[in-house]
Amino acid sequence: MAMTRFNFNGKKIIVTGGTRGIGEGIVRAFLKSGAEVFFLGLNAQKGGKLESELCSENFKVSFFRCDVTKEDEVKEIFDKIVFHAGNIDVLVNNAGGWENQQSVLKTSLDEWEKIISRNLRSVFLCSKQIIPVFQSQKSGRIVNISSIGSLTIVKSASSPPYIAAKAGVNALGRVLAAELADYNVAVNTLAPSTTETERLVRVRSEDQRKQMAERTLFRRLSTVEEIANWVLFLAAPESSYLTGQTISVNGGRLMI
Ligand SMILES: NC(=O)c1ccc[n+]([C@@H]2O[C@H](COP(=O)([O-])OP(=O)(O)OC[C@H]3O[C@@H](n4cnc5c(N)ncnc54)[C@H](OP(=O)(O)O)[C@@H]3O)[C@@H](O)[C@H]2O)c1
Repeated sequence: MAMTRFNFNGKKIIVTGGTRGIGEGIVRAFLKSGAEVFFLGLNAQKGGKLESELCSENFKVSFFRCDVTKEDEVKEIFDKIVFHAGNIDVLVNNAGGWENQQSVLKTSLDEWEKIISRNLRSVFLCSKQIIPVFQSQKSGRIVNISSIGSLTIVKSASSPPYIAAKAGVNALGRVLAAELADYNVAVNTLAPSTTETERLVRVRSEDQRKQMAERTLFRRLSTVEEIANWVLFLAAPESSYLTGQTISVNGGRLMI
């Protein structure tokens, strides 16, 4: 069966954490659907290389180096993007992730604060910057990327601050939806299960990845494209009556 083609011609999209993994997949999916994309990341070399590659394919795309945990950087970069773009249609809060599988007991306060910042403070700061833009436009969409870890628990070790931060993202999504509904802005949160990215291969052993695949009804991990497609749906006119929801795309992974 052919895939549905979304039409984002002329739409302007900001994607945080777009330099690799799921974020890169989201950037590519929006570009293929006709959008102009502004993507943020920490690694300037990787971001610049991806920007050049995509520009050479005639896509309208710009990379901005920005640490989304830092208020001054977020403000400066969002101001620059909004000045250049004039209006913004969609913000995708994707930047996030974790590296260390630890118990609560073994988690240092530094690790706790670093991971909470990367996954939750970033969503607060970027959303805060886009709110006035969406309020004055009386339109806009925010799509947050959370995780199935915020809804259920697996017995194998994970990252406690990551799980807690993503539960916070789900809740912040509901708050944003309530605050912005009067401005015709929808806010939804996607909670993917384990998705094949380079980082995932780094942080989870082959055995763990196999076990996670077996826990789904489809007995496989999701691809980056399968998550990106949902982001496009949540940003598209077709999902106009949906707001304040956390949707888990998980191949039927059991909720235990
Ligand atoms: N993969 C999974 O199994 C899975 C499952 C559920 C949810 N998720 C969520 O999906 C999102 C993407 O995950 P992923 O696996 O694609 O991760 P990834 O490959 O590690 O990519 C993370 C992205 O976030 C950016 N980033 C991290 N910290 C940043 C900061 N302080 N400022 C700006 N950018 C920052 C990275 O930028 P640089 O590369 O430039 O450093 C990179 O572009 C995350 O929110 C993650 O929690 C992933």
